[in-house]
Amino acid sequence: MSSASAKVILFGEHAVVYGQPAIAVPVSSMRAYAEVVNEGCDFQIVARDLDDKIITFDGDDPLAQVTRLTLKVIGKAIPRIKVAVRSDIPIASGLGSGAAISTAIIRCLLDYFAIQVDNEVVNEIVYEVEKIHHGTPSGIDNTVIVYEQAVYFVREKPIEMIRIARPLRLIVADTGQAALTKIAVGDVRRLYESRPQAIRPVIEKIGEISYVARQAMQSGDVNQLGALMLENHQLLRELTVSSEQLDSLVDIAIDAGALGAKLSGGGRGGNMIALVDSERSEAVQSALKNAGAVRVFETIVEASS
Ligand code: PMV
Repeated sequence: MSSASAKVILFGEHAVVYGQPAIAVPVSSMRAYAEVVNEGCDFQIVARDLDDKIITFDGDDPLAQVTRLTLKVIGKAIPRIKVAVRSDIPIASGLGSGAAISTAIIRCLLDYFAIQVDNEVVNEIVYEVEKIHHGTPSGIDNTVIVYEQAVYFVREKPIEMIRIARPLRLIVADTGQAALTKIAVGDVRRLYESRPQAIRPVIEKIGEISYVARQAMQSGDVNQLGALMLENHQLLRELTVSSEQLDSLVDIAIDAGALGAKLSGGGRGGNMIALVDSERSEAVQSALKNAGAVRVFETIVEASS
């Protein structure tokens, strides 16, 4: 059984598109899985979460595309197998479901052929598939998922992993409002082009926050991290990617005792995250649920060994 984790972005979303650093962490408890369930048959993928929908090799489905790309990279013919995929990761919610499923399928194929490749190669394949479906993604999603480690990501720069001194307890809450990252990214682009003098400093300030946040993660200063999250959220508001509900969930988390909170990912809807200590976790989760968040869960980013 091959698998890959979900992810959340902690700092730097949107600014990362313009070359600023961003930080993302894996959510290892939430995963996508791929497994060979039959051999000696025409190649097909069966999507367990979609009523066992069958995906054939030649189709337009992203899962067929990831298969074709993987076989091309490893120089193998179409295998006579049936691959079953399933995922605990809610789709289209900024938790990286698509990239995680792609990663699980690539690993399943590599396992089947008993081929070992570096994560760098897996990452390139997933990024290619992300580009087909999301236009011009920065690459942070596929990177954090493939490496399954906290990453300090700068576009087109070597990937840096972050040493985490103290575990980080995060609450992830979904507004329940569907929002397309692609549209938010396009709107920020137009805003930037229409008012570069005003918007460039906002984007650069977000980059500085990611830089300082990495140091705070490495020294275990959770109070500083919380403050940086709030500051980052304010700047994302200036980029017009927050929403009334995201702002309200951020305020509610803080009132319930979170150390910090912000929207996470594309914004306009989707998820927000709150940093909590163990004593306040339950209270923050209940407050977010009472305020109408549709899916609320805790995830712990473990300290580096
Ligand atoms: O919506 P998500 O969680 O996939 O995050 C998108 C992050 C952006 O910075 C807004 C876009 C990108 O490609 O990095």
